[in-house]
Amino acid sequence: MYAILGVTGHVGGAAARELLRRGEPVRAVVRDPAKGAEWADAGAEVAVADLNDRASLAEALRGCAGAFVLLPTDAAAADPDAAHRATADTIAEAVRESGVPHVVALSSVGADLPEGTGPIRWLHHLENALRATGARVTAVRSGHFQEKVELLLDAILGPGIYPVFAESADVPTPMIATRDIGEVVADLLVTPAAASEVVDLDGPVTTERQVAEELSAVLGRPIQVVTVPKPGWAAAMVDGGLPPQLAAELVGLYEAEERGILQLRGDRHLTGTTDLAKTLQHVLS
Ligand SMILES: NC(=O)c1ccc[n+]([C@@H]2O[C@H](COP(=O)([O-])OP(=O)(O)OC[C@H]3O[C@@H](n4cnc5c(N)ncnc54)[C@H](OP(=O)(O)O)[C@@H]3O)[C@@H](O)[C@H]2O)c1
Repeated sequence: MYAILGVTGHVGGAAARELLRRGEPVRAVVRDPAKGAEWADAGAEVAVADLNDRASLAEALRGCAGAFVLLPTDAAAADPDAAHRATADTIAEAVRESGVPHVVALSSVGADLPEGTGPIRWLHHLENALRATGARVTAVRSGHFQEKVELLLDAILGPGIYPVFAESADVPTPMIATRDIGEVVADLLVTPAAASEVVDLDGPVTTERQVAEELSAVLGRPIQVVTVPKPGWAAAMVDGGLPPQLAAELVGLYEAEERGILQLRGDRHLTGTTDLAKTLQHVLS
């Protein structure tokens, strides 16, 4: 049995679908019982647990051969640093208490660094907290998701603007489809490595301008790239609806990206192949 947290989200959902497609047993972990029905219909066992509730989470992981865990962004957190570290600690405590022997953790490129990376430092914390449990830990350090455009849909579908939080929209950047991450997660759960490891994962190389061009092609109308100057990043994100505390954290992430410190430093490197156009067609369908 494989427990999948975040099963209603991108990567967890893709991992669970892939495992079920292969005939593997899945325990879909949801926090809202109403969201479990579709997974029960798909053939999964359903467990209800919140990532901030150690006891229910440990129960959801108990008896499984492996578990997929992630640290979702809590945009409503008044103190994002404290809240995400606390959730990471709760996940690790539940892993320890459940005795699940193998955990595949969704992490990020840059999670080897303890600080100076914005929200990625919480994934650094999660990785280390999980390793301290004694479980075998496979950290999947992903680069940019192709689906990150979903956060910009108001600007894209409204005024037709694609905001870029960088000095240039022409920097080649690998971007991976979350369905590809899900397939890798399924592989890693079913065939665990002999010891804990870090798997770097990225996808086809593209630029933010090419993302805007693909969006324009799918939508059949022009999309204008607007590079937001660094002093205006936080204000633009707050205008877009993000709480100021989270906007400040994302500024830290984009600055880390500009400094070039987010590098692949894992034990091995895998690359997804789904092309951006296919993902954008799905996102906009
Ligand atoms: N975006 C990127 O480019 C990027 C790059 C590298 C790594 N990452 C990592 O990927 C993560 C996001 O992964 P994703 O896109 O697959 O997630 P997602 O689609 O945003 O879904 C989040 C999932 O977590 C669940 N969840 C949230 N809070 C919960 C709680 N308190 N208890 C139980 N479940 C909870 C949600 O359930 P509900 O349906 O109940 O809300 C949902 O299933 C980021 O947080 C980051 O760590 C992202």
